[in-house]
Amino acid sequence: MNQRTAAVLTLSDAGARGEREDTSGPAIRERLAGLGITVTKHIVQSDDPDGIERRLREWVADGVNVIITTGGTGFGPRDHTPEATRRVIERDAPGLAELLRMDGLQNTPFAALSRGLCGIAQSTLIINLPGSEKAVRENMDTLAPVLPHALQLITGDTEH
Ligand code: MTE
Repeated sequence: MNQRTAAVLTLSDAGARGEREDTSGPAIRERLAGLGITVTKHIVQSDDPDGIERRLREWVADGVNVIITTGGTGFGPRDHTPEATRRVIERDAPGLAELLRMDGLQNTPFAALSRGLCGIAQSTLIINLPGSEKAVRENMDTLAPVLPHALQLITGDTEH
């Protein structure tokens, strides 16, 4: 089996201006490393939807196995991550988004306030996570048992 690769995209206007430290991106990286997935790209950028779409398309074209975004999934006026992701994904993975929200509700009713999407573009899985480090850690705990098999299916690896 080939080494899996991941890209992490932190969406935050304040983060992009250098006014807020990104602790959620590093938390995602740490969890991915624990799953044996190599993070090859990690960028902090603003909530601008066109910029998000461009970045996702660039990384899909690069053939990264999974892109995990953090931030911009809520109800705020600058929360555009799901809309930008919608423009890029070709096949929905609603079960993953349902799982994340359902599991999140065990921790906080605010999990219902994330509008995050999951889906597949070419051979890349894209997953929207909320912005807070706490939410990211909880969501990565939920994803851990599912993600390796999901990537195996997308890449068509049949071994095991
Ligand atoms: N999901 C989990 N598991 N744990 C959390 O603490 N926070 C919620 C929600 N999802 C949370 C969660 C909150 S408070 C918000 S506002 C939404 O995610 C959207 O977050 P975002 O706008 O930073 O993407």
